This record gives sequence, C-alpha cells and structure tokens, in this order.
Amino acid sequence: MTDSAFQQCINPDCGKAFGIEEIYHSCPQCGGLLDVSYNWNRLAVPKKLNDFEKYWSKRDVPQRLSGVWRFHDLMPFVPLEQCVTTGEGQTLLQNANGVAPFVGVRESSLFLQYEGLNPSGSFKDNGMAGAFTHGKLVGAKQAACASTGNTSASLAMFCAITKLMKAVIFIGSGKIAYGKLSQALDYGAKTVQIEGDFDDAMARVQEVSKQLGIYLVNSVNPFRLEGQKSIMFRVLEQLRWEVPDWIVVPGGNLGNSSAFGKAFLELHQLGLIKKIPRIAIINATGANTLYRLVEQDGLCWNGGRYDKSLVKRFYDEMTAAGRRASTIASAIEINRPVNLSKCLRTLEVMKGVVRDVSEQEILDAKSQVGAGGFGCEPASAASVAGAKRLVAEGVIGRDERVVCVLTGHQLKDPDATVAYHRMDEALYEKYLKKRGVTETPYANRPVTVANHIDAIIDTVKKDGEQR
Ligand code: F0G
Repeated sequence: MTDSAFQQCINPDCGKAFGIEEIYHSCPQCGGLLDVSYNWNRLAVPKKLNDFEKYWSKRDVPQRLSGVWRFHDLMPFVPLEQCVTTGEGQTLLQNANGVAPFVGVRESSLFLQYEGLNPSGSFKDNGMAGAFTHGKLVGAKQAACASTGNTSASLAMFCAITKLMKAVIFIGSGKIAYGKLSQALDYGAKTVQIEGDFDDAMARVQEVSKQLGIYLVNSVNPFRLEGQKSIMFRVLEQLRWEVPDWIVVPGGNLGNSSAFGKAFLELHQLGLIKKIPRIAIINATGANTLYRLVEQDGLCWNGGRYDKSLVKRFYDEMTAAGRRASTIASAIEINRPVNLSKCLRTLEVMKGVVRDVSEQEILDAKSQVGAGGFGCEPASAASVAGAKRLVAEGVIGRDERVVCVLTGHQLKDPDATVAYHRMDEALYEKYLKKRGVTETPYANRPVTVANHIDAIIDTVKKDGEQR
C-alpha cells in the first residue's frame, strides 16, 4: 500500500482499507462501496484554487491539457506521468441567458456545463480517464461495463485509442440510443445484448467480471468517480473559483452525484472553499427510486448507518410488482442505482434535494436547451427541467447561481429530437405521445413544400417576416 493514497470502505462500521493496486468492486469484508482516500498531509496540495492556473501554460503536456488531470493534485492516486488521457475534459460552462427565462431565474444566474463536448460525447470520459489509469496500474487486459449507452461508448473509445485493454459491453436489449450503440460498434467493442434491461445487465456484468477477472469500469469502480470529481473543479475554474449556490444533475446510477459530493467535501476539508453548494438530483418519473426513497420514505445517510431494511423492502416490492424503469431519457432508465449509499452521503454533505420530472418536462427543457445553446440528450435535460421545477417551488431562488450539468451530447439520441419537432407524426406518436408527451409547445416544425420556385420563395419569405 502506498502511504499517500488507499481504498477505503465507506461503511463507518467497517472502514477497512486496501492498497491502490488491489481490485475490488465492493468491500470484501462488508459489501460496502469503496472510496479512494488520501493522506493529504503527505501530499503537496495547492494552497488556493487559483494556484491551478499555473497549469494553463502547460498544454504541451497531455495530462495538463486533460481537463481531468489538470486537477491531478486533487486525485493523486498515481504519479501524473502514469495517468491515461484521451484529451477529455475540454468542456464549457455557458452563461445560458437564453435558457434562464424558461427556468425562471434572473438572466445571468443560469449556467450550463456542457459535458457532451467530451471526446465520446458524454461526461463518462472524465471517469474513464480515472478507471483506465487504475486499470493500467493493475495490468488489466480486458475491461467491461453494463451501460445505457454512454459508459460503453466511452469505454470502447478509450480501448480503441489507448490499446491498453479490450472492451466488452453489456447492454439491455432495445434499450440504448443508436448514436451511442453506433459508437461502441465502430470502436470495436465486443457488444453483448442481454435479454433484459440495464438493471439486469448491471447485475450480470458484476458476476461475469468477478468470475473471469475482467476489469469493471462501471461507477462502482471508485477510480472512475475520482475522474468525475473534475467536472466540479472545471465548473469552479470557469466561475473564477467562486462557488455557485446550486449544482443540478440528472440521477441514474448516481455516480456523478456521488463524485460531486466527494469533490466538495474534500475541497472543504482542504480549506480550498469556504462554502459547499447545494445539490439537486433529478430522476425521471419512470425511474425514480432515489426520489421515492429520499423524498417520500425519508431515507438519509445518517452518518453511514442508513436504513438498509427500508431499501431492501423497496426493492423487494419493486420485484414483486414487476416494476421496470421506463423513460425516454434512456441514459437514466435505471431502477437499482449501484451508488445509492454514496449518493446519500452527497445529499447530506451538499444539503441536497431530489425531484422527479415527467417525459413532457424533460423534452420541453431539452428543446429549450437546444434553442439556447449546443443542445443535449434527453437525460441531461432532466437537470434543467428539475431546476425549473425547484424555482417554481421556491426552493431555488430567482437570484441564486445555478449550474445544470448537461451530461450528454445532443446527437446521442436524434430520434427524440426529431420526434419532438414533429418531423413526422408517426415518429412523434411512436416515441413521445405514447409516453405521455401530449404537447410539443416548442416544436420547430419542418415545412414541406412543392418543388416549385414560387412556392419555395413564398415559404422562405414568410419565415423571414416572422423572425
Ligand atoms: N446522463 C447521461 C447522459 C448518462 O449517460 C448517465 C448515465 C446519467 C446522466 C446518469 O449518471 O449514473 O452518474 O447518475 N449513464 C450510464 C451509462 C448509466 O451506462 O452510460 P449517473
């Protein structure tokens, strides 16, 4: 075990520690999730956040160009030069004045963090840089994940670029947007479709990787979450190191929210920030385990001694009722989030709230993000829909600074977009109406016109007059 970084069970009644070079998906003693922990007093950590600006001039070093490893001082589990990068983390925080009125906050108060600008088109690349760095350390040759699409695209891309490992991906049948599936196929991942959904694939991949000794890169892997902390570091960097009031993020397997809570807790413990922002985690109504457990049943972290029997009862009832996750936001179509316990810790650290939003709210928000910026996929828009809801409830104030994390690129799931804009009615009926999206108030309908010059000129002129 190195003396500055180690793995540790998050269960306070266990707390067992393991070396960095060991591979576990959970604590072998008690089954709890693992953290990567640091003896900060043995490490050189910048005294203030703007000390990180010295790395801006080091863009010729691949790890400093990386938006993850630029913050290596805050995730130093191996030396910088051993860190794996594909150029991830060049993402933007946009002051989204075009979207602020929709959300209901004052004009300069809304910020959108576009994680879809990562090389594989989602935030997962931040975490994959962490997982691959650890995978390389332990000499892994094959890596696996279960996925609703983005993790698999990211894993496959990292394998194709680095050639460090070969990718095996487990997906539920018919459950993944083609933009994402096409990436994994192109990048050469072994693609295994399981007859079932993400929750089935997730359970299986854990069994299979344990039996065959395959390196697992789902977010139960604590090194992945180390990489995902950098999303929050970049938010702070782009706000010139000022802490916002709210972070709003979609909740699926709850890796991101878990990583964000750890990031802010550590920054606070290191004295690098004075205040911790609040977090809002947004489920889709059709996959709202966290919302129900936390907001309806009162589940909380309770110093790590959360009510496991409540969770068990909830899952048993779900199994008995045959309830399956179902949402147009396929990335977060998850009913059994593997990071539930870590996420409860985040909710405590960041005084969090959880909401669930409907398919209608998600797609309306998505169209507004598209109209005001670079766009996003449906799951990402849950954050904006959730922020709107919380402003309407008065939980988020109109003058508070709100950062919504847009987790995936607009082009990941074009079907949802063209269906919303009523490209053709059959598509709308199939994808959206059936799911309860009964209105498309922000649709930008394409027009069909005869192939005749007068008719075309007439149509274009009319559009010019309307704008
Ligand atoms: N947004 C997008 C675009 C995602 O792909 C995911 C998760 C989430 C949000 C939820 O994030 O799990 O950290 O709460 N996608 C995983 C996958 C499950 O397989 O790609 P989380």
